[in-house]
Amino acid sequence: MSASHASASPAGPLTEPLLRVQGLSRRYYRSGFWRKKQAVQALSDVSLEIQRGSTTAIVGESGSGKSTLAMCIAQLETPDSGDIWLKSQRLTGLTTAELLSIRQKIQLIFQSSASALNPRLSAVEIVAEPLDILGTASKPRRRELALEYMQLTGLTSDLVGRSPWALSGGQRQRLAIARALTLRPELLIFDESFSGLDLILEAQILELLRTLKASYGFTYLVITHDLALVAGLADHVAVMQSGKIVEQGAASQVFRHAQHPHTRALLAAMPRWEIARPAGSGA
Ligand SMILES: Nc1ncnc2c1ncn2[C@@H]1O[C@H](COP(=O)(O)OP(=O)(O)O)[C@@H](O)[C@H]1O
Ligand SMILES: [Mg+2]
Repeated sequence: MSASHASASPAGPLTEPLLRVQGLSRRYYRSGFWRKKQAVQALSDVSLEIQRGSTTAIVGESGSGKSTLAMCIAQLETPDSGDIWLKSQRLTGLTTAELLSIRQKIQLIFQSSASALNPRLSAVEIVAEPLDILGTASKPRRRELALEYMQLTGLTSDLVGRSPWALSGGQRQRLAIARALTLRPELLIFDESFSGLDLILEAQILELLRTLKASYGFTYLVITHDLALVAGLADHVAVMQSGKIVEQGAASQVFRHAQHPHTRALLAAMPRWEIARPAGSGA
């Protein structure tokens, strides 16, 4: 079967991935007055498929191109070459209206998202803000929806009127997630979103993601330098090094039978791997 073009038909086969990245490349030029322009190949021929309702993890050391890939997928960065499809829609040369629509469907949550929340707004106003900008429902309805999403992410009613600065780090992270969810995205990307949290808070947020996924069938792309973080979360793991995906496959396969030396090095470097290792793993 020629899988590469079959899924481009409007109806698409049942197995059509939610997102398909094909041959993506992106080069940056670093310059400084003390040295010549230097090319950095941030992404080099990266291909990836994300199935609806799955959790895909991208892992790799700092500078391996993970954020560049996330930004390209979220349409916040333009690749030099390659293609991205959301279902049957090719995300190239979009009109401004199409781009806005795609940016709602693919939500990117950074580590700094939680700290960048507007301190002049209350928690519920922050969650409602994307809906306010879209103006899709009446103001009371938008507030009602925002309250629902706050509840969904485990934020209690006493926090509704608080400034984000009167919230804990974990609560701010939940608020950033609630805000992203109001747009009913098809894909949620977490780029090192939990790096600033302590282990207990991080575990609680990961549990929240699992619960939300089980109830609502969300599709996640989780980006991290910490392989242990995704051990109990990911269905599919892609390992990046120097702009390339050097290994990818089912999470169980990658964790138990890592093929690439870089994956093995990442596994060996994880102090938490012993704790997070799936039961029965002989690794
Ligand atoms: N805007 C930019 N300008 C120049 N170089 C960049 C830019 N963004 C990223 N890079 C470089 O591209 C490479 C990949 O970066 P990045 O995607 O942020 O990696 P990661 O998220 O895995 O740490 C790094 O060498 C980084 O310095
Ligand atoms: Mg990054």
